[in-house]
Amino acid sequence: MRLPVADRSAYTCYSETMTKHDPSVDPRDAIEIHPSDRVVVLTGAGISAESGLKTFRDSDGLWAGHRVETVATPEGWEADPELVWQFYSQRRRECRASCPNAAHYALAELEQEIGDRLFLCSQNVDDLHERSGSRNIVHMHGELFKSRCEANCGAPIIEDSNSYNSLAEIPRCACGARMRPHIVWFGEIPLEMTCIQREIDRCSILLVVGTSGAVYPAASFVHWARMRAGTPARTYYVGPEAPLNAVAFSRIILGKAGDKLPGLFRVL
Ligand code: APR
Repeated sequence: MRLPVADRSAYTCYSETMTKHDPSVDPRDAIEIHPSDRVVVLTGAGISAESGLKTFRDSDGLWAGHRVETVATPEGWEADPELVWQFYSQRRRECRASCPNAAHYALAELEQEIGDRLFLCSQNVDDLHERSGSRNIVHMHGELFKSRCEANCGAPIIEDSNSYNSLAEIPRCACGARMRPHIVWFGEIPLEMTCIQREIDRCSILLVVGTSGAVYPAASFVHWARMRAGTPARTYYVGPEAPLNAVAFSRIILGKAGDKLPGLFRVL
């Protein structure tokens, strides 16, 4: 079942051509999904590349001009919160200006077809999956449009799409500490790991899309899915180049996510 057109038109950037099957998708590449299958999808920066959001390790990538340590670690935050907020404010602006692409919509449509037998785990902090209609999703590295207390005082995480460009603009929590981006920085513990582990333990298909396989624990998910007790999951990777952990996959499907995902699933 495809998303109702009315739902799609809520997203002004939707194009009807987005879910047309790419003739380059070989029917032999189709991933068959049986009624008993449970599917876990892990996405990385590559799935948002065709939406215009740069991936992390591109030579002209997201971190260009900034060392990772200065903008994506607790130490960087301690040293220069103004720079960190300028960096994430720019990410917010870029994300707002972008739109979901055919790959995001393909996953949202799969969720419409198989319901909660699809569990989506994204390393991305953008909201393009939600804007394409995905609902059963966790963001293991946080969310760009949320902020939280730097002191973890217990105050709730807040929705926040503002830009902060100077120290004076950075909002304070009720406890007096600064608000920081709700992003999992290097050296911090990814979110929702118990839930992710449970879903991988019970899935029969793991599909990984657009991630370099360089950052753990996400790079281990394919190993968890194959080495857990019981039948190993079928494991697929979609992206223009093989990831670092390629040997662990049953099949590598080379190509852009936006070309390969529409038409990739055959729901039985
Ligand atoms: N379709 C699919 N994959 C693509 C596309 C595309 N159109 N374009 C690029 N890719 C692939 C690249 O081949 C690469 O393997 O996307 C991957 C992007 O890799 P990274 O930039 O390393 O991004 P990712 O793996 O998501 O990074 C993981 O690292 O920096 C941290 O927390 C950050 O979540 C991030 C994590």
